[in-house]
Amino acid sequence: MKQFSVVPKVTMFETCDEFKRDYQIGEHDLVFTIEVTWQSYFADVSAGTVIYIEQYGQGEPADEMIEAICADIKKPYTRVIAIGGGTVLDCAKLFALKQTLPATDLFDKKIPAVKDKPLLLVPTTCGTGSEMTNISILEFKERHTKFGLADDALYADEAVLIPELLEKLPYKVFAASSIDALVHAAESYLSPKATPLSKMFSIQAMTMILKGYKTIFSDGKESLKSMLPDFCLASTLAGIAFSNAGCAAVHAMSYPLGANFHVPHGESNYAMFTGVFKKYMEINPTGAISELNTLMAMILECKTSEVYEKLENLLNSSILPKKALHEYGMTEEQIVEFTNSVIQNQQRLLGNNYVFLDRNSMIEIYTRLF
Ligand SMILES: [Fe+2]
Repeated sequence: MKQFSVVPKVTMFETCDEFKRDYQIGEHDLVFTIEVTWQSYFADVSAGTVIYIEQYGQGEPADEMIEAICADIKKPYTRVIAIGGGTVLDCAKLFALKQTLPATDLFDKKIPAVKDKPLLLVPTTCGTGSEMTNISILEFKERHTKFGLADDALYADEAVLIPELLEKLPYKVFAASSIDALVHAAESYLSPKATPLSKMFSIQAMTMILKGYKTIFSDGKESLKSMLPDFCLASTLAGIAFSNAGCAAVHAMSYPLGANFHVPHGESNYAMFTGVFKKYMEINPTGAISELNTLMAMILECKTSEVYEKLENLLNSSILPKKALHEYGMTEEQIVEFTNSVIQNQQRLLGNNYVFLDRNSMIEIYTRLF
């Protein structure tokens, strides 16, 4: 039976001041954010505990960060608020649970995930979609990969969208995060768990993102400011789509790359994106992927047979240049190593593949992108 749901309530504010007025952050709140966001928009707010996530390590969330943060929370709290990118939101989700540590046991499902506190998620990038999902992704240092916990206890109670918070986003962060959203929409469209409802969200998200990229291509990066509400919303729509239908091989195969070489999540997805989709086309070109290519070809104004090249040209020229895997430091020996890691650790995602990818197919994808 296929199902569809949108769990967190979604609220959109034009300004941060409206949000502060309505949500009254105070002494009983535990806030996760980064210092520059807090100082730029919330300097006049007094919260019980404010965790600046960058003080616990750079890059994406890791198991040891969670343990260090736990040790630093001294005050009791009754609500968890996260204002940030994927790292911030994914960390905060774990602190609305009754028991968070040991993180490895939580992610291995040796201890149950039980929701204990209201959770409010405010994204400040336009890609993660984490505000709409029941997933938290952590990097497990000893395992040299990222690993996702999917459990309904991780859903937020509310997702709050404030495009104003995206205004100071560095262009590179916008680029990587919006590509992540594009991949969420595309992978969830092809997932065997996709439904007509989830596909609607995938299509709308892809349309908004690709049209936005075309505008940046024709009008320059300055045009982004007026499109921030669109990108912000598109990311949430893609989040709804993949929350229901799931992400797949692009994410699965990007995780060892991201974890080993600290490549931003969206950028590592881009490194894998068209390579995985071209492999899908070789195995089954006539299913949902042909619908998706038709949609992209229509937006990109090209033939369906040229759609991946056209997409890469657009992204490379205006959004984010694509790199070969060896440029990140990957070695030829790691092609097999990464494939083994994906098979061992990412079955949750591989189960959502458009078509089954065997070990040789994955080796071939890494090799072609190397
Ligand atoms: Fe993602």
